[in-house]
Amino acid sequence: MYRKRHLEYIIIINSKLDHVKTVKEFYESIRHQQESAHGEDYCQIHDAIKKYMKDCKSYMELGTHQGGTASTALLTNPEKIYLVDIDMSRYRKYLSPLAEEYCNKHNIKLIVKEADSTSFMTINTTDMLVIDSYHNPNHMQKELNVHGANARKYIIAHDTSIINGRPNESLYICLKNFASKNGWEVIERGTTNVGYTVIKNTGAG
Ligand SMILES: C[S@@+](CC[C@H](N)C(=O)[O-])C[C@H]1O[C@@H](n2cnc3c(N)ncnc32)[C@H](O)[C@@H]1O
Repeated sequence: MYRKRHLEYIIIINSKLDHVKTVKEFYESIRHQQESAHGEDYCQIHDAIKKYMKDCKSYMELGTHQGGTASTALLTNPEKIYLVDIDMSRYRKYLSPLAEEYCNKHNIKLIVKEADSTSFMTINTTDMLVIDSYHNPNHMQKELNVHGANARKYIIAHDTSIINGRPNESLYICLKNFASKNGWEVIERGTTNVGYTVIKNTGAG
C-alpha cells in the first residue's frame, strides 16, 4: 500500500516556487510549470473548479500537495476553504504563508488538516469537494463514504482517465456509481490528458 502511494508521489512534479510573492503569482507559476511538465490539458480541472465555484460558498479538497488546485479555489474567494493532505510539507513550504495573508485580506476562513482523507476527523460540510489524493478506486470509495453526504453541490475528481501514465477509468467508474446510487449526476467529463470528472447533487437545486 505504502509503496503504491510512494510511486504515485514521485511522478508529481515539485514546482520551483521560491520566487512567488502572492497567491495569484503562485497559481500562475504552478499552472505554467504543471502544463509544461504534463501537457497543456493537465490543468483543465482548474477551469472546472473556477466554473462551478461561481455557484459555491465553500470548498474542500482531499489531496492538497503543493496547492495547485487549492490556489485555484482560493482565487475564487469562497467564504471557507478546507484543505486535507496526509503530508502538508509541500503546502507549508510555499503556499501556506501566502494563503494565510490572502485569506486574512479577503475574509476567507482557512482550515488546514494534515490527516488521512478517509479519517472521520476530516469530516466537514462543503458546497464543493475536490478529490485528488490517493488515486485508487477503493480509497476513493472510502472518501465518498466519509464525505459524500457532506458535499452539498459538486464533487470534482482529477485523473479519471489516466493514472500513473496508463489509461485507467476506475476513478471515473467509482464516481459514476456513487452518483447513480445517491441522486447525483455526471455533468462534465474531460478525457484529454489525465482527465477530470464533475458530478452534481441533483437534490441541490
Ligand atoms: C496528486 S497530489 C495532489 C495535487 C494537488 N491537488 C495539486 O493540484 O497540486 C496527491 C496528494 O494526495 C496526498 N495523499 C495521498 N494519500 C492520501 C491520503 N490517504 N489522505 C490524504 N492525502 C493523501 C499526497 O500526500 C499528495 O500530496
